[in-house]
Amino acid sequence: MTISIKTAADVEGMRIAGRLASEVLDLLTPHVKPGVSTEELDRIANQHIVNVQGAIPAPLNYAPPGYTPYPKSICTSINHQVCHGIPNDRPLKNGDIVNIDVTVIKDGWHGDTSRMFVVGEGSIAAKRLCNFTYDAMWKGIVKVKPGVRLGDIGNAIQTFAENNGFSVVREFCGHGIGRKFHEEPQVLHYGKPGTLEELVPGMMFTIEPMINAGKRDIREMGDGWTIVTKDRSLSAQWEHTVLVTETGYEVMTLSAGSPPPPAFVGA
Ligand code: MF3
Ligand code: CO
Ligand code: CO
Repeated sequence: MTISIKTAADVEGMRIAGRLASEVLDLLTPHVKPGVSTEELDRIANQHIVNVQGAIPAPLNYAPPGYTPYPKSICTSINHQVCHGIPNDRPLKNGDIVNIDVTVIKDGWHGDTSRMFVVGEGSIAAKRLCNFTYDAMWKGIVKVKPGVRLGDIGNAIQTFAENNGFSVVREFCGHGIGRKFHEEPQVLHYGKPGTLEELVPGMMFTIEPMINAGKRDIREMGDGWTIVTKDRSLSAQWEHTVLVTETGYEVMTLSAGSPPPPAFVGA
């Protein structure tokens, strides 16, 4: 397999794209309230990306082999929806949890990030799943450094999730990213220590675990995109775009509104 190695100039482009993607989430945050539709959130995101950022919403018309072109600019996945939910005119309700996934292209570089939002007052279980999944993403991120293998990242996430009674979705994974939205390698969120590709400085990929409160099994809806849990249990996801540096990692998708890393992440 061929994993592209980013130059210093490439990384500068990725930092900008990553920050812009994160800033779209910052912009959307005050709008995520009971009564707003995900289509409205999509409109707000689209107009900011295009007219303010001078960037391109990567999902719009994205059509990997076997898929119909994605019709919107962001993905919004509610409650038992795992990923790739399509914005529509239904209002969000108090207690919903929603993942908003934003990918922008700026000067040819992709920044890809997602966060969970609790709409109004969430249940204890819903908030716990969202917070837990944030920590699960960071359990993977803190592993990133030269010499570590992709299996070590997947194992850290899987062990953390399963030891706490949650399950990890297997069918979707993190991915290399750069001038292309999805490139090599695949970054599985489960696996065995010491297996798969060894990380070297300049690799760039996303870590984006999907964690279910119930069983890991999923199915695809008739729209050809939306993925849901088979048992209709709640599912959460967070995503960052991460660079392998000489000594560890650098997160590309940070902005003023990014939540701070969990306490277990050293300074
Ligand atoms: N942003 C998603 C990811 O993290 C991919 C969405 S593909 C789309 O890889 F077409 F649904 F937008
Ligand atoms: Co991604
Ligand atoms: Co994404």
